[in-house]
Amino acid sequence: MIWRLAAGMARLLPPEAAHWAAVMTLRHGIGPAPVLPTLTVSVAGLDFTNPLGLAAGFDKDATCPDGALRLGFGHVELGTITPHPQPGNPRPRVFRLAGDGAVINRYGFNSRGLEAVAAELARRRRSGRKQGGVIGINVGANKTSAAPTEDYRIAVARLAGFADYITLNISSPNTPGLRDLQTADNLRLLIAAGRNGLVDAGCERPLFIKLAPDLAPADIEAIAATAADEGVAGLIATNTTIKRPDGLRSAHAFEAGGLSGAPLFAMSTHVLAEMAGWLPAGGPVLVGAGGVASGWQAYAKILVGASLVQLYTALALEGPDLPARVIQELAALMAADGITDIAMARGQIPDADKAMQHALRLAQSA
Ligand SMILES: Cc1cc2nc3c(=O)[nH]c(=O)nc-3n(C[C@H](O)[C@H](O)[C@H](O)COP(=O)(O)O)c2cc1C
Repeated sequence: MIWRLAAGMARLLPPEAAHWAAVMTLRHGIGPAPVLPTLTVSVAGLDFTNPLGLAAGFDKDATCPDGALRLGFGHVELGTITPHPQPGNPRPRVFRLAGDGAVINRYGFNSRGLEAVAAELARRRRSGRKQGGVIGINVGANKTSAAPTEDYRIAVARLAGFADYITLNISSPNTPGLRDLQTADNLRLLIAAGRNGLVDAGCERPLFIKLAPDLAPADIEAIAATAADEGVAGLIATNTTIKRPDGLRSAHAFEAGGLSGAPLFAMSTHVLAEMAGWLPAGGPVLVGAGGVASGWQAYAKILVGASLVQLYTALALEGPDLPARVIQELAALMAADGITDIAMARGQIPDADKAMQHALRLAQSA
């Protein structure tokens, strides 16, 4: 209750100020610390206490990983971090679409850069006060980079030692040209750059790639084939969309940038299901992101093939007790289906519409 109140007060602030306040609050360890059902998942050689993670973009500079984990997330993805510090786009650059349960952002990879983040993570390591949980580090290219692929190598080389897994983000709509890296030929070069970065870092880490929801079916097939072929550990589907679905009601609906939250849920779940359909058994695992605000939505993503689920927008709109609610609801829905293990639920209903209907009906009848 108190956290809902806090979230309500944060909504009185402009969205970027509210974001900053939330990051600072978590940095100081303020927030709920729920005791949650265990829903372990072991994928990509990593053990997660539950499948829910905080998506990239909330903690861009590794300011509050432990505060975020304490909210109940099984993993937190830090970033996107660029090699050099950059300010991002001019403000305002993030907009609440409260009536639509959505956000539009065009932050444009505001990042303190990899040296500042490495220093922060080195301090965290020395402090010995680390919260348990998996840490992903999401990296990207600087806006003015002459060699974007090389930026990924540099960032991986510097940061991999602090990460449990690495995400190559090639799906932000706010860095011109970035999404062109999703074509099959460019993807091979990108993966090679990521691998070279790991060699430079002298450590092995699973590589994940984060994809846009705006891919054509042929792109989805080509990406699945390339990622499987190249031994990528995971695919995150999806980032924000540049589309504006019919029916948006908010005044900010046509701001430039990436749309996230409720209007992205079905769209990203369809992309996830299509991707699952093209991936071979034993190939990359899937991480479902886009519009998750409740347990049934997380469950729907798992039913179509996700091993892990991430959210961001619903946390911003609903407050810090949301992750615990999602995990509790998910555990209850799985129990209602007689399923005890995420691995058992994964991919049970490959059709996205059927999976969403099943999960919603189950939630409504609970
Ligand atoms: C304000 C904001 C900033 C974001 N910044 C990043 C980012 O830096 N890197 C990234 O990979 N994704 C970023 N995202 C995308 C989210 O990680 C997530 O993929 C997307 O918002 C869909 O999930 P959601 O509907 O639960 O928010 C951002 C999203 C929002 C709302």
